Amino acid sequence: MKLLVYGAGVCGSLFAARMHQAGHDVSLLARGERLTALRRQGVRLAEEDGPAVKRVPVPVIEHPGAGYDLITVFVRTHQVDTVLETLAGVPGDVLFLLNWAAGPQTLGAVIGQQRVLLGFPTTGGTMDGDVVRYRMSNVITRRVAMPIGEPDGRTTPRLERIVETFRTAGINAKTEPRMDAWLRTHAAFEVPLGQAIHAAGGPAALADTPDAVRGMLHLIRQNLAALDTPPVPRAFTALRALPQGLLVAALRRFLKSPTAAHSALNAPSPATAAELERLAEQLRAPAGTR
Ligand SMILES: NC(=O)c1ccc[n+]([C@@H]2O[C@H](COP(=O)([O-])OP(=O)(O)OC[C@H]3O[C@@H](n4cnc5c(N)ncnc54)[C@H](OP(=O)(O)O)[C@@H]3O)[C@@H](O)[C@H]2O)c1
Repeated sequence: MKLLVYGAGVCGSLFAARMHQAGHDVSLLARGERLTALRRQGVRLAEEDGPAVKRVPVPVIEHPGAGYDLITVFVRTHQVDTVLETLAGVPGDVLFLLNWAAGPQTLGAVIGQQRVLLGFPTTGGTMDGDVVRYRMSNVITRRVAMPIGEPDGRTTPRLERIVETFRTAGINAKTEPRMDAWLRTHAAFEVPLGQAIHAAGGPAALADTPDAVRGMLHLIRQNLAALDTPPVPRAFTALRALPQGLLVAALRRFLKSPTAAHSALNAPSPATAAELERLAEQLRAPAGTR
């Protein structure tokens, strides 16, 4: 598969390295200092805070070429508009693997509705200078598959082909028939969580402030109640149904866990704040505008 990976941050670099190692024809599109660093050293990967750094020589480009079987986009929500303008002139199916609560039509309006697929990366990590420090997988996280779907929920040949290609490269992917609802559910949870962590100064600091955790849970519940579909996955209904005390205790335990400490939640940046703000706007937009 001839693949363009658009966006060379944490998720794009990890994905491009994995696909390159599996033998695919991958180009990783980067800009600015990241472009210079990648041209010099390739993608540099390390497990969480481990000392070993592995170098993967993925071909890096500044401008997209042509003839891609698939373009995967890994940028922040507020960075999508600029990318769409470029992609309007680059043929090929486009899989958006990012936080997006504004629906597929807003993307298709710029690049063509039939080109759009939606998904979400399930691996992640943080940038440490030029090194991508990725989350170590365990028996539980290995079972969490990257959801990918068509805007209309059908299982099409192109969707099956993409999922199969990712799987053969060792990336656990699955078809998701309600991908838009999945992304909106995720945003309903992630926006209050991310903003509360940012306000508190980190996940552990938030855990130590039970009132702030209660306030965050209240906002998550409001967001879930305002969705125009039931939450996807269904497990998110528990956040509305279970007693507040139980949920606050579980959220505080999670915020103190190594998982939270090693996640992007614990790496606040201007890009994270801007992404959460744009996602919040997307959640507030009336259904008719999506
Ligand atoms: N990191 C995680 O653990 C994780 C996990 C799950 C999901 N996600 C989600 O996945 C998405 C991608 O996250 P990420 O962590 O990979 O973000 P990131 O590390 O901030 O990477 C985004 C990359 O895209 C580049 N970019 C943005 N606009 C561009 C443009 N017009 N042309 C070229 N490059 C451009 C950025 O460059 P600049 O730095 O120059 O802006 C940056 O290198 C987000 O929606 C995020 O919330 C992240």
